[in-house]
Amino acid sequence: MPCTVITGAFWGDEGKGKIISYLALKDQLDICVRTGSVNAAHTVWHQGKHHALHMVPAAFIYEKCHLLIGAGANIHISQFLKEVEETNVKNRIGIDHQASIIEEKHSTQDKTNTHLKGVVGTTGWGVGPAIADRVRRTAKLAKDIPELQPYLTDVTKEVNNAIDNGKKVLLEGVQGLMLSLFYGTYPYVTGRDTSASAICSEAGVGPTKVNDVLVVFKAYMTRVGGGPIPGELPKEEAKKRGWFEISATRRDRRSAPFNFKLAKKAVMINGATQAALTKLDILYPRCKGARNYDELSEETRQFITEIEKETGIPVVLMGTGPEALDIIDRRK
Ligand code: IMP
Ligand code: MG
Repeated sequence: MPCTVITGAFWGDEGKGKIISYLALKDQLDICVRTGSVNAAHTVWHQGKHHALHMVPAAFIYEKCHLLIGAGANIHISQFLKEVEETNVKNRIGIDHQASIIEEKHSTQDKTNTHLKGVVGTTGWGVGPAIADRVRRTAKLAKDIPELQPYLTDVTKEVNNAIDNGKKVLLEGVQGLMLSLFYGTYPYVTGRDTSASAICSEAGVGPTKVNDVLVVFKAYMTRVGGGPIPGELPKEEAKKRGWFEISATRRDRRSAPFNFKLAKKAVMINGATQAALTKLDILYPRCKGARNYDELSEETRQFITEIEKETGIPVVLMGTGPEALDIIDRRK
């Protein structure tokens, strides 16, 4: 804080939603700016309730947090309106005038294009084709849409003013570095750069305004769709270890052990200053629900120390369960 960027290290689904929801409550965030688009879902568990957010920033659970969606983002109108209703944030959410729009035709293109659907294995939401239209300079923007008029704002002004006034601002990255259009496992990637610099760009915040980049690791790695995942486990083994997950789009997530080389790469390209490590309780069931570092076993601590040694940054937050507050917080 005051301005922190949250970014994923692997193929998304590292648990950024959980980390953001924790920070929202714990640090009483003033502003959270979401980037990216509807292809990414951030999961938040709060007071026994589950939320899968494709549009609304994950910090919504802190009622005083002002929520924004940056100009670099792509808006799915009906999904946005639905989530605003479900989360009851109508009076504290804004969209930048220049955010672009995903239309029905984009989803159809995503689902019928043999390369996108068959090879890359996209989520089918139409984000890539919508970005392609933006590059062609034919996209609709948020300011053109009647239903979005009540939400329009200049996110760049709001967020930069907030930072200049010492408010607590979080820039919410989505997906992970290995899905980056530039730095990921091309062509098995998403349609945008997912690095911390791109998150700043999508929110309209310059690099000199950022104080911390918090990279989120999961204790093991997963990916959906096509493309390599080094050290991939057979499904049976993944199930045995409790690593087998099913995505929000109901596809199997493939899994592999934590990879230090990829973690180092993610720290370097994101310029990460701190790390969060989620699902520690899946790797080491005994630490489930722990909220103090002292409660962790020797083996668990060794794993954390190794990550810190290899990446050169401290692991400051550790997820030990699904609820927003199931966290060990080692920040000063
Ligand atoms: P697209 O982003 O829908 O074009 O999909 C491209 C690739 O990125 C596919 O392999 C998707 O499964 C993957 N992908 C996109 N967004 C996410 C995400 O938020 N979590 C996990 N995988 C994602
Ligand atoms: Mg997700």
